[in-house]
Amino acid sequence: MKLVFLGPPGAGKGTLAAKAVEFLQIPHISTGAIFRAAIANKTALGLKVKEIIDAGKLVDDETTIALVRERLAQADAQKGYILDGFPRTIAQAEALEGFSKVDRVVNFDIPDSAVIERLSGRRVCKNCGANYHILFNKPKKEGICDLCGGELYTRDDDKAEAIQKRLEVYRAQTAPLIDYYRKKGLLVDVDARPAVDQVIANFRQALQV
Ligand code: AP5
Ligand code: ZN
Repeated sequence: MKLVFLGPPGAGKGTLAAKAVEFLQIPHISTGAIFRAAIANKTALGLKVKEIIDAGKLVDDETTIALVRERLAQADAQKGYILDGFPRTIAQAEALEGFSKVDRVVNFDIPDSAVIERLSGRRVCKNCGANYHILFNKPKKEGICDLCGGELYTRDDDKAEAIQKRLEVYRAQTAPLIDYYRKKGLLVDVDARPAVDQVIANFRQALQV
């Protein structure tokens, strides 16, 4: 199954995708995670996008589309995938149609107040990228990843100013994709407000998976 996860920053797309790949057996492809890995490894791509991402702005369409096109051409993505954080503009959605046929677009619905609470308490593993939350999804040992023992950190774009910018960018450039995909009959709405296990149950019911 070829899925797109749509929703504001902090809706829980990454958290849910990490769980869904276990029962769907398809790769989780997060453009944000690919960019963060490039930044950590100080590659040419990482150096190019670091400032843009830290400020909460979008990386340009050309760079992002080329990256996803290349990733979806790999063998493990042929049977299906979860695309998390792409497309984020109408231009990206139109480009995606040119190289892959998406089955469903899942829209994670959540108010801004919850987003701010989730992002300001988020901690991420430096080593494997797993997401935690200081209140809602605590690691067993404070500051340490349950999965790999890596150190947890606060993303630079989870500072208050960048969160506001990301919400603005989401409303202006990404939210129009909801209508875009609804008109194509591909959209499935999932209530992202409850606790993680309930959101997963909502997702499984909505998609019958
Ligand atoms: P990206 O990494 O995609 O960031 P995002 O869309 O802002 O999404 P987040 O990772 O912030 O949130 P999420 O929905 O995955 O929530 P999470 O599961 O972590 O992109 C980062 C940047 O890269 C962009 O700003 C842009 O610059 C660039 N970029 C990426 N893609 C791009 C593109 N296509 N085009 C251009 N630029 C692009 O959950 C959040 C927190 O809440 C966690 O702490 C989690 O533990 C907790 N949580 C999750 N679910 C629940 C729940 N149900 N109840 C309580 N807490 C929960
Ligand atoms: Zn880890």
